[in-house]
Amino acid sequence: MSIPWYHKTSIYQIYPRSFYDTNGDGIGDLKGIIQKLDYLHELGFETLWISPFFSSPQADTGYDISSYTDIAPEYGSMDDTQQLIEEVHQRGMKIVFDMVMNHTSIEHPWFKESCSSQDNPKADWYIWRDKPNNWQSMTGGNGWHYSAERRQYFWSSFLPFQPDLNYRNPEVKKTMFDTVRFWLNKGVDGFRLDIFNVIYKDAEFRDNPFSFKLLPTEDDPSGFFQEAKYNLNQPESFEFAKELRSVCDEFGEKILLGEVSGDRSIIRKFLGDDINNGLGLVFDFEMLSFQFSADYFRKLIERIEAHFPDPFMPVYVFSNHDRHRSIHRLGDDLRKAKLLAMLQLTVRGVPCMYYGEEIGMTDLKQPFGSALDPIPHKFKLIPRFIFDLLGLLINRDEVRTPMQWDEAKNAGFSSAEKTWLPVHGNYREINVEKENQDKASLLNTIRGLMRIRNQETSLQEGSQEILNGLPNGALGYKRKSADESLIILLNFDGLEKEIQIEFSECIFTLSSRDTAKEKAIRLNGFGGVILRE
Ligand code: GLC
Repeated sequence: MSIPWYHKTSIYQIYPRSFYDTNGDGIGDLKGIIQKLDYLHELGFETLWISPFFSSPQADTGYDISSYTDIAPEYGSMDDTQQLIEEVHQRGMKIVFDMVMNHTSIEHPWFKESCSSQDNPKADWYIWRDKPNNWQSMTGGNGWHYSAERRQYFWSSFLPFQPDLNYRNPEVKKTMFDTVRFWLNKGVDGFRLDIFNVIYKDAEFRDNPFSFKLLPTEDDPSGFFQEAKYNLNQPESFEFAKELRSVCDEFGEKILLGEVSGDRSIIRKFLGDDINNGLGLVFDFEMLSFQFSADYFRKLIERIEAHFPDPFMPVYVFSNHDRHRSIHRLGDDLRKAKLLAMLQLTVRGVPCMYYGEEIGMTDLKQPFGSALDPIPHKFKLIPRFIFDLLGLLINRDEVRTPMQWDEAKNAGFSSAEKTWLPVHGNYREINVEKENQDKASLLNTIRGLMRIRNQETSLQEGSQEILNGLPNGALGYKRKSADESLIILLNFDGLEKEIQIEFSECIFTLSSRDTAKEKAIRLNGFGGVILRE
């Protein structure tokens, strides 16, 4: 069976509001993405995932949609969207939209109608009950909200202004599948699926059992003192993944990338049966809270391989618009960031990089009180240091600041007096233009790695074998395809290491002092090499 393109691809996430502003309103736009396509093409990523830019009151910056087939005016028009799709394709790249299927905005006309009475034509499009059960929302607290107009409670998995659609209603399902077809007809190459694991809830609305768990974790979404037994990861959602896949199959090979959470054996179910007839890929968010050590990554890779062997393909992601940027976990150390990128771009899996990660953009700490993100307002009574100690990002504005292009005003992002979020004060040191000129910059390191990844089939689709017997602190693996074999060695430790290994050629090295001796390689602290066997 041939490997689908989306198992060999590389993904770059664009947060459109912060990427590039062409009309001077301080907000990034679609034309801005079009203008930067050559940069992205040259960087070497094949697939662009664009966070939502559809009509929305922007209460959750676009993850609260009021029309799935209209474009929010601050981003541009349908013509711009069509042009973006075409220009991406002209460069041999792919484009993926963000499908927020689970919920709409309370401003969506469907919800307004549904709210208006208990017997209107859309009365059953959302999840309504006379009495709430004990379910908690994903952001904590009761997820049932009372509508005085309809005199019933509606269910929101996320925030109160994001009511969940009712997928047990065939009309809803059909409408959303038609929305998917609408965009596939316009040429998109697939979708990233927002909080896909809450699509279905228990049909009987049974109460969730008690749990001692305070906060949800990546491998176990239970928290806020209850087991998330009946509101997440329901069997119907796994079936729905297959149905959605068959809708996409009408249009050829399309990517479906699920945002799901839970134990790996559960998230694996979204991929379908053994032939991978469900979603094409799922995020595995445990690695977003990685520890920078060879031991951690060895175990991570082993666990991932145990759950996502061929024909499945894992996704390697270390940053996104909801979590701390990866460099935050690395103490802003660029040497470590290069090594992490080297792992991400050579390990067996689809890499997914977040805008600005390629230049080492850092989090911008901002007070909760003035946040545009609604989440910190929910937690403003809890002192910030508690979240910092737990490593949790509450104010997501901190990782969504404008892209740092150059040294000009607003880091070259916009000509506006005020940008929608402040530009990070370090933009004169950290920006694309500056890093272009430095051969050893993170940006050029990633470009170099992407060039190799795009040339070597073994890195895109080869098998993987972890090497044993390496010194402590070092991680190594072999990637092998029919006609080539590469060895990747990574030193997660600050001390130099010598590794006995046979190879024919060193095709990439992270540190200038690496000297290839016969049958041995010397790795600098935080150094890494790619060797041809
Ligand atoms: C996902 C998105 C996040 C959004 C939420 C609700 O987790 O990544 O940004 O707030 O869903 O749509």
